[in-house]
Amino acid sequence: MSVFKAILGICETKELDSTSWRMDGGRVAVKLEDAPELNRKGGAIYLKGGELAKPLLLVRAEDGSMLAFANRCSHLLGRKVDPVPGESRLRCCSLGHSEYGYDGQVIKGPAKEPLKKYTVEIDNGDIVVTL
Ligand code: FES
Repeated sequence: MSVFKAILGICETKELDSTSWRMDGGRVAVKLEDAPELNRKGGAIYLKGGELAKPLLLVRAEDGSMLAFANRCSHLLGRKVDPVPGESRLRCCSLGHSEYGYDGQVIKGPAKEPLKKYTVEIDNGDIVVTL
């Protein structure tokens, strides 16, 4: 990641088009076919807007499982996070580069609080996240 991107807090993970997901009560459903990034290990997308209080990050872990996190670093600026390629952790896009394990716990950097992690199920081709 370039210093320029880190200063501006620009992540590598792309936003999923709002027509590819829906929210119903406290559950978010994403059509897996609309998120090809999630078909490869280490791939990720994020969602924002609508009824979501915070952006939501979806990650296909190295072991093939699907993970969901609140996509807002707990450090001061609350920047978004990206998966670290080839490793089971997430890194903040800011200059502070706080890192979190896939359990959401801080493993490095200035952040003190964990990332909120959500339950994920695959249901009929949809990724369903319970917030
Ligand atoms: S906002 Fe994430 S380390 Fe500062």
